[in-house]
Amino acid sequence: VNSNKPIGIFDSGLGGLSICRAVKGMLPDEDIIYFADTHYAPYGSKSKKTITERAESIIQFLIAKDCKLIIIACNTATVTTIKMLRLKYAIPIIGIEPGIKPASLNSKKGVIGVLATEQTLKSDSFHTLKAQYSSSVTINVQACPDFVNLVESTNHESSIAIDTAESYIRPLLAAGCDQIVLGCTHFSFLMSAIRLAVGNQAEIIDTAVPVAEEVKRKLQQLQISNQEKISGVAKFWTSGDVTMATPAVSQLWGQAVTLSYAQP
Ligand code: DGL
Repeated sequence: VNSNKPIGIFDSGLGGLSICRAVKGMLPDEDIIYFADTHYAPYGSKSKKTITERAESIIQFLIAKDCKLIIIACNTATVTTIKMLRLKYAIPIIGIEPGIKPASLNSKKGVIGVLATEQTLKSDSFHTLKAQYSSSVTINVQACPDFVNLVESTNHESSIAIDTAESYIRPLLAAGCDQIVLGCTHFSFLMSAIRLAVGNQAEIIDTAVPVAEEVKRKLQQLQISNQEKISGVAKFWTSGDVTMATPAVSQLWGQAVTLSYAQP
Protein backbone atom coordinates (compact mmCIF):
# COMPACT_ATOMS: atom_id res chain seq x y z
CA VAL A 1 0.00 0.00 0.00
CA ASN A 2 1.23 3.51 -0.60
CA SER A 3 -0.04 7.03 -1.06
CA ASN A 4 1.23 9.74 -3.37
CA LYS A 5 -0.71 12.42 -1.55
CA PRO A 6 1.26 15.29 0.00
CA ILE A 7 2.11 15.94 3.63
CA GLY A 8 0.68 19.27 4.85
CA ILE A 9 2.86 21.38 7.13
CA PHE A 10 2.01 24.74 8.69
CA ASP A 11 3.33 27.38 11.06
CA SER A 12 2.58 31.00 11.90
CA GLY A 13 5.31 31.91 9.43
CA LEU A 14 8.73 30.68 8.44
CA GLY A 15 9.87 28.79 11.57
CA GLY A 16 8.15 25.60 10.46
CA LEU A 17 10.52 25.48 7.49
CA SER A 18 13.03 24.01 9.97
CA ILE A 19 10.64 21.05 10.39
CA CYS A 20 10.04 20.99 6.63
CA ARG A 21 13.78 20.66 6.03
CA ALA A 22 14.06 17.80 8.51
CA VAL A 23 11.11 16.03 6.85
CA LYS A 24 12.62 16.53 3.38
CA GLY A 25 15.93 15.13 4.65
CA MET A 26 14.32 12.02 6.12
CA LEU A 27 11.55 11.47 3.55
CA PRO A 28 12.91 12.83 0.24
CA ASP A 29 10.22 11.10 -1.86
CA GLU A 30 7.28 12.76 -0.11
CA ASP A 31 5.47 15.75 -1.62
CA ILE A 32 5.02 18.63 0.81
CA ILE A 33 2.57 21.52 1.00
CA TYR A 34 3.80 24.21 3.37
CA PHE A 35 1.51 26.95 4.62
CA ALA A 36 3.06 30.01 6.30
CA ASP A 37 0.37 32.00 8.12
CA THR A 38 2.48 35.13 7.77
CA HIS A 39 -0.46 37.52 7.89
CA TYR A 40 -1.22 36.35 11.44
CA ALA A 41 2.37 35.90 12.73
CA PRO A 42 3.48 35.88 15.43
CA TYR A 43 1.11 33.41 17.14
CA GLY A 44 3.11 33.69 20.37
CA SER A 45 1.39 36.88 21.44
CA LYS A 46 -2.11 35.93 20.17
CA SER A 47 -5.04 34.61 22.19
CA LYS A 48 -5.94 30.95 22.45
CA LYS A 49 -9.14 31.71 20.49
CA THR A 50 -7.30 33.32 17.54
CA ILE A 51 -4.69 30.54 17.34
CA THR A 52 -7.42 27.88 17.43
CA GLU A 53 -9.39 29.59 14.64
CA ARG A 54 -6.26 29.93 12.50
CA ALA A 55 -5.20 26.30 13.01
CA GLU A 56 -8.67 25.05 12.08
CA SER A 57 -8.91 27.17 8.92
CA ILE A 58 -5.46 26.02 7.78
CA ILE A 59 -6.21 22.36 8.49
CA GLN A 60 -9.35 22.62 6.37
CA PHE A 61 -7.27 24.25 3.61
CA LEU A 62 -4.70 21.43 3.75
CA ILE A 63 -7.41 18.75 3.77
CA ALA A 64 -8.95 20.41 0.68
CA LYS A 65 -5.49 20.16 -0.94
CA ASP A 66 -5.78 16.38 -0.40
CA CYS A 67 -3.06 16.02 2.26
CA LYS A 68 -2.69 12.60 3.89
CA LEU A 69 -1.14 13.82 7.15
CA ILE A 70 -0.67 17.20 8.79
CA ILE A 71 2.27 18.46 10.79
CA ILE A 72 1.66 21.42 13.09
CA ALA A 73 5.22 22.76 12.77
CA CYS A 74 4.64 25.19 15.61
CA ASN A 75 4.95 24.60 19.36
CA THR A 76 2.52 27.42 20.13
CA ALA A 77 -0.24 26.04 17.89
CA THR A 78 0.44 22.45 19.03
CA VAL A 79 0.16 23.08 22.75
CA THR A 80 -2.89 25.27 22.20
CA THR A 81 -4.91 23.22 19.71
CA ILE A 82 -3.75 19.68 18.96
CA LYS A 83 -6.02 17.82 21.41
CA MET A 84 -9.14 19.51 20.07
CA LEU A 85 -8.06 19.13 16.43
CA ARG A 86 -7.40 15.40 16.82
CA LEU A 87 -10.88 14.93 18.26
CA LYS A 88 -12.49 16.89 15.45
CA TYR A 89 -10.56 15.76 12.34
CA ALA A 90 -9.90 12.21 11.17
CA ILE A 91 -6.67 13.09 9.35
CA PRO A 92 -3.51 12.08 11.30
CA ILE A 93 -1.97 15.16 12.97
CA ILE A 94 1.57 15.37 14.34
CA GLY A 95 2.71 18.31 16.44
CA ILE A 96 5.81 19.57 18.17
CA GLU A 97 6.30 20.30 21.87
CA PRO A 98 9.30 21.71 23.72
CA GLY A 99 11.86 18.89 24.24
CA ILE A 100 11.70 18.84 28.03
CA LYS A 101 11.91 15.05 28.08
CA PRO A 102 15.24 14.69 26.20
CA ALA A 103 16.67 17.67 28.08
CA SER A 104 15.74 16.14 31.45
CA LEU A 105 17.29 12.82 30.50
CA ASN A 106 20.51 14.53 29.29
CA SER A 107 20.96 16.94 32.18
CA LYS A 108 23.84 16.20 34.53
CA LYS A 109 23.19 19.12 36.87
CA GLY A 110 19.44 18.57 36.96
CA VAL A 111 18.77 22.10 35.73
CA ILE A 112 17.35 22.86 32.28
CA GLY A 113 16.16 25.95 30.42
CA VAL A 114 13.33 26.30 27.90
CA LEU A 115 13.14 29.07 25.28
CA ALA A 116 9.62 29.49 23.87
CA THR A 117 6.89 31.96 22.96
CA GLU A 118 4.77 33.64 25.65
CA GLN A 119 1.67 31.73 24.57
CA THR A 120 3.45 28.35 24.75
CA LEU A 121 4.71 29.07 28.28
CA LYS A 122 1.21 30.16 29.36
CA SER A 123 -0.60 27.13 27.94
CA ASP A 124 -2.15 24.32 29.99
CA SER A 125 -0.36 21.66 27.92
CA PHE A 126 3.01 23.21 28.68
CA HIS A 127 2.19 23.29 32.42
CA THR A 128 1.22 19.64 32.30
CA LEU A 129 4.38 18.72 30.40
CA LYS A 130 6.52 20.71 32.83
CA ALA A 131 4.84 19.12 35.85
CA GLN A 132 5.74 15.63 34.57
CA TYR A 133 9.46 16.39 34.85
CA SER A 134 9.56 18.91 37.72
CA SER A 135 10.27 16.25 40.33
CA SER A 136 13.48 15.15 38.58
CA VAL A 137 14.84 18.47 37.19
CA THR A 138 14.55 22.19 37.83
CA ILE A 139 12.98 23.82 34.78
CA ASN A 140 13.69 27.48 34.02
CA VAL A 141 11.68 29.16 31.28
CA GLN A 142 12.41 32.18 29.14
CA ALA A 143 9.92 33.86 26.78
CA CYS A 144 11.65 35.15 23.63
CA PRO A 145 9.23 37.64 22.04
CA ASP A 146 11.84 39.20 19.72
CA PHE A 147 13.17 35.96 18.22
CA VAL A 148 10.26 35.25 15.84
CA ASN A 149 10.48 38.63 14.10
CA LEU A 150 14.24 38.27 13.66
CA VAL A 151 13.59 35.09 11.66
CA GLU A 152 10.59 36.49 9.76
CA SER A 153 12.70 39.49 8.69
CA THR A 154 15.70 37.23 7.85
CA ASN A 155 17.79 39.03 10.44
CA HIS A 156 18.54 35.73 12.17
CA GLU A 157 22.29 36.08 11.59
CA SER A 158 22.57 39.79 12.42
CA SER A 159 24.36 41.39 15.36
CA ILE A 160 20.93 42.19 16.87
CA ALA A 161 20.20 38.45 16.80
CA ILE A 162 23.43 37.80 18.70
CA ASP A 163 22.63 40.47 21.33
CA THR A 164 19.05 39.27 21.68
CA ALA A 165 20.14 35.64 22.10
CA GLU A 166 22.70 36.70 24.68
CA SER A 167 20.04 38.57 26.71
CA TYR A 168 17.62 35.59 26.73
CA ILE A 169 20.25 32.97 27.47
CA ARG A 170 22.35 34.75 30.13
CA PRO A 171 19.75 34.25 32.92
CA LEU A 172 19.40 30.57 32.05
CA LEU A 173 23.14 29.97 32.24
CA ALA A 174 23.29 31.97 35.47
CA ALA A 175 20.63 29.62 36.88
CA GLY A 176 22.95 26.69 36.09
CA CYS A 177 21.13 25.18 33.10
CA ASP A 178 23.21 22.59 31.22
CA GLN A 179 20.47 21.98 28.60
CA ILE A 180 18.75 24.68 26.56
CA VAL A 181 15.55 23.59 24.81
CA LEU A 182 14.50 25.35 21.59
CA GLY A 183 10.76 25.35 22.27
CA CYS A 184 9.74 27.18 19.08
CA THR A 185 10.40 26.10 15.51
CA HIS A 186 11.62 29.57 14.52
CA PHE A 187 14.52 29.27 16.94
CA SER A 188 16.31 26.57 14.89
CA PHE A 189 17.16 29.31 12.41
CA LEU A 190 18.82 31.28 15.22
CA MET A 191 21.12 28.37 16.02
CA SER A 192 24.39 30.24 15.33
CA ALA A 193 23.43 33.20 17.56
CA ILE A 194 22.17 30.83 20.28
CA ARG A 195 25.29 28.69 20.06
CA LEU A 196 27.45 31.77 20.44
CA ALA A 197 25.54 32.83 23.56
CA VAL A 198 25.58 29.33 25.07
CA GLY A 199 29.25 28.60 24.35
CA ASN A 200 30.25 25.27 25.88
CA GLN A 201 28.16 25.79 29.00
CA ALA A 202 25.12 23.84 27.86
CA GLU A 203 23.77 21.53 25.19
CA ILE A 204 21.09 22.82 22.80
CA ILE A 205 18.05 20.59 22.26
CA ASP A 206 16.26 20.94 18.92
CA THR A 207 13.51 18.43 18.15
CA ALA A 208 13.10 18.97 14.38
CA VAL A 209 14.71 15.62 13.51
CA PRO A 210 12.75 13.59 16.12
CA VAL A 211 9.53 15.08 14.69
CA ALA A 212 10.54 13.97 11.18
CA GLU A 213 11.27 10.48 12.59
CA GLU A 214 7.81 10.40 14.13
CA VAL A 215 6.29 11.36 10.78
CA LYS A 216 8.17 8.51 9.09
CA ARG A 217 6.94 6.01 11.73
CA LYS A 218 3.37 7.24 11.40
CA LEU A 219 3.36 6.96 7.58
CA GLN A 220 4.74 3.42 7.83
CA GLN A 221 2.30 2.43 10.54
CA LEU A 222 -0.66 3.72 8.51
CA GLN A 223 0.86 2.35 5.29
CA ILE A 224 0.62 5.68 3.53
CA SER A 225 4.30 6.29 2.68
CA ASN A 226 5.07 7.40 -0.85
CA GLN A 227 6.94 4.49 -2.41
CA GLU A 228 7.37 5.85 -5.90
CA LYS A 229 11.04 6.73 -5.25
CA ILE A 230 10.77 9.97 -7.19
CA SER A 231 12.10 13.11 -5.57
CA GLY A 232 9.17 14.82 -3.84
CA VAL A 233 7.90 18.26 -4.77
CA ALA A 234 7.42 21.03 -2.18
CA LYS A 235 4.80 23.75 -2.71
CA PHE A 236 4.67 26.87 -0.58
CA TRP A 237 1.72 29.05 0.40
CA THR A 238 1.40 32.18 2.51
CA SER A 239 -1.43 34.31 3.87
CA GLY A 240 0.92 37.30 3.72
CA ASP A 241 2.51 39.35 0.95
CA VAL A 242 3.94 36.97 -1.65
CA THR A 243 6.54 39.40 -3.01
CA MET A 244 7.82 40.19 0.45
CA ALA A 245 7.87 36.59 1.70
CA THR A 246 9.44 34.91 -1.36
CA PRO A 247 13.10 35.81 -0.68
CA ALA A 248 12.77 34.84 2.99
CA VAL A 249 11.16 31.47 2.25
CA SER A 250 13.76 30.77 -0.46
CA GLN A 251 16.61 31.63 1.88
CA LEU A 252 15.38 29.47 4.75
CA TRP A 253 14.30 26.58 2.53
CA GLY A 254 17.70 26.67 0.80
CA GLN A 255 16.55 27.11 -2.80
CA ALA A 256 14.41 29.48 -4.87
CA VAL A 257 10.69 28.86 -4.40
CA THR A 258 7.49 30.03 -6.04
CA LEU A 259 5.12 31.17 -3.35
CA SER A 260 1.32 31.21 -3.75
CA TYR A 261 -1.21 33.28 -1.83
CA ALA A 262 -4.21 31.91 0.07
CA GLN A 263 -6.34 33.29 2.87
CA PRO A 264 -8.04 30.31 4.47
N1 DGL B 1 7.04 28.85 15.34
C1 DGL B 1 6.10 28.92 16.38
C2 DGL B 1 6.41 28.00 17.53
O1 DGL B 1 7.01 26.96 17.32
C3 DGL B 1 5.41 30.18 16.76
C4 DGL B 1 6.12 31.45 16.64
C5 DGL B 1 5.14 32.58 16.72
O2 DGL B 1 4.41 32.77 15.77
O3 DGL B 1 5.09 33.25 17.77
O4 DGL B 1 6.04 28.25 18.64
